[in-house]
Amino acid sequence: MARLLLLNGPNLNLLGQREPNHYGATTLGDIEDNCRQLAIEAGHTLDCFQNNSEGTLIDRIHQASTDGVDFILFNPGGYTHTSVALRDALAAVKIAFIEIHLSNVHAREPFRQHSYFSALATGVISGFGAQGYALAMQAVIEQIAGQKQS
Ligand code: DQA
Repeated sequence: MARLLLLNGPNLNLLGQREPNHYGATTLGDIEDNCRQLAIEAGHTLDCFQNNSEGTLIDRIHQASTDGVDFILFNPGGYTHTSVALRDALAAVKIAFIEIHLSNVHAREPFRQHSYFSALATGVISGFGAQGYALAMQAVIEQIAGQKQS
């Protein structure tokens, strides 16, 4: 059994109402429920956390290390393009993570095309809407199964 953490950054609490042309109609609650279900079916546990503040997200990443979290799934929202401090937190705890974006950030404004996280991530999923979270869960579950075999 692995311990997983789904982290969502600023404004993602507004999913379902926020710019649905970019982010779709699914709420964060529905995404979290679906991911939790996928984790349980695979025999893992998933904690979910969303916050709008950089420092609180950093503290949650430090806490993940104390808790023995094995893998993080992270949509850093706007901090993707600005936060050295959040990137440093992930580097410090050395927990593998997948970077998720609902929208295809590479098809949008130039300032969204740089991420402070991608070079550190196990992988990046961008542009598949809410389905991207399920794809990330599938990837994490397979990674964990592969680690057990090797
Ligand atoms: C986002 C993309 C970011 O550029 C944006 O600031 C977000 C959401 C996405 O999921 O597509 O808040 O991370």
